[in-house]
Amino acid sequence: MTEPKRITKAVFPVAGLGTRFLPATKSVPKEIMTLVDRPLIQYAIEEAREAGIEEFIFVTSRGKSALEDYFDESPILEASLKAKGKLDALEALKETNMPSGQIAYIRQHQARGLGHAVWCARRLISPDESFAVILPDDVISAETSCLKQMVDAHQEIGGSMVAAMEVPSKETSSYGILDVNEDMGSLVSVKGMVEKPAAEKAPSNLAVIGRYILTPEVLKNLEKTEEGSGGEIQLTDAIAREIVEGRGVYGYRFQGERFDCGSKAGFLQATVAFALERADLRDELRLFLHERMAMEQAAE
Ligand code: UTP
Repeated sequence: MTEPKRITKAVFPVAGLGTRFLPATKSVPKEIMTLVDRPLIQYAIEEAREAGIEEFIFVTSRGKSALEDYFDESPILEASLKAKGKLDALEALKETNMPSGQIAYIRQHQARGLGHAVWCARRLISPDESFAVILPDDVISAETSCLKQMVDAHQEIGGSMVAAMEVPSKETSSYGILDVNEDMGSLVSVKGMVEKPAAEKAPSNLAVIGRYILTPEVLKNLEKTEEGSGGEIQLTDAIAREIVEGRGVYGYRFQGERFDCGSKAGFLQATVAFALERADLRDELRLFLHERMAMEQAAE
């Protein structure tokens, strides 16, 4: 088998309506909402960069212009910071600059689901090229970036790959769940995917979360995929078609902690966890949390 080509493109579907965060998301894109002092999208970009991604494709929609502005240079702000000697802030700003030509925006005109959003990027992906998909509202804290772990594994095995995570039985109904063919440790080969099964119908406890490596065939499948549940075009249906057609689909048990920042509880947990990692915030926050918990317990 010839070694698969290294993945260099990533698609970031950011065209969803973000209804769980209304009213905030009426005017602020969910991906611009801030975990400590960086927007969600910044964490996704850093993860992709660490994995060797060189081209960043955003699938956006109406009302997401703040996201496009975020990656632009800001000469007036930069000059002002320089003049005031605020070099740390200047350095932080540099992380957000993307070289021209590395970033592309494509519009999804109607929110017709994740599968449709990925399909909208099809003309920016070559017909012989596998690519990554990152959902920025799944934030993963890991020593080696989750996508890098997957890209390295993909280099060995090829095919399509989804990030997988064990979930408690009572939560299978919130995820796509893998039907495992062979368990090889970090990697599992997959013989089916079931969308949001009840615990008693779930073929395993391995849930799909928002990182994917997809072959160009998946884009072709999306072309043929009918609208599924909720009238949306589901990405999982197009990946499952790969299995039916005899091509490899793998789940990858990544090392790291995942936060569901698409939900309010997950977002708050991530905020606390990331702030506790920060030397400049840890002590003050720990003290606050201790005092607060003591107050809560005293009141019970
Ligand atoms: P979600 O299922 O979290 O939907 O999408 P959402 O619209 O962002 O949020 P809620 O559920 O209304 O609160 C998962 C990912 O897929 C993208 C979203 O932007 C998010 O990154 N997506 C979803 C699209 O790009 N287009 C769509 O039509 C749907």
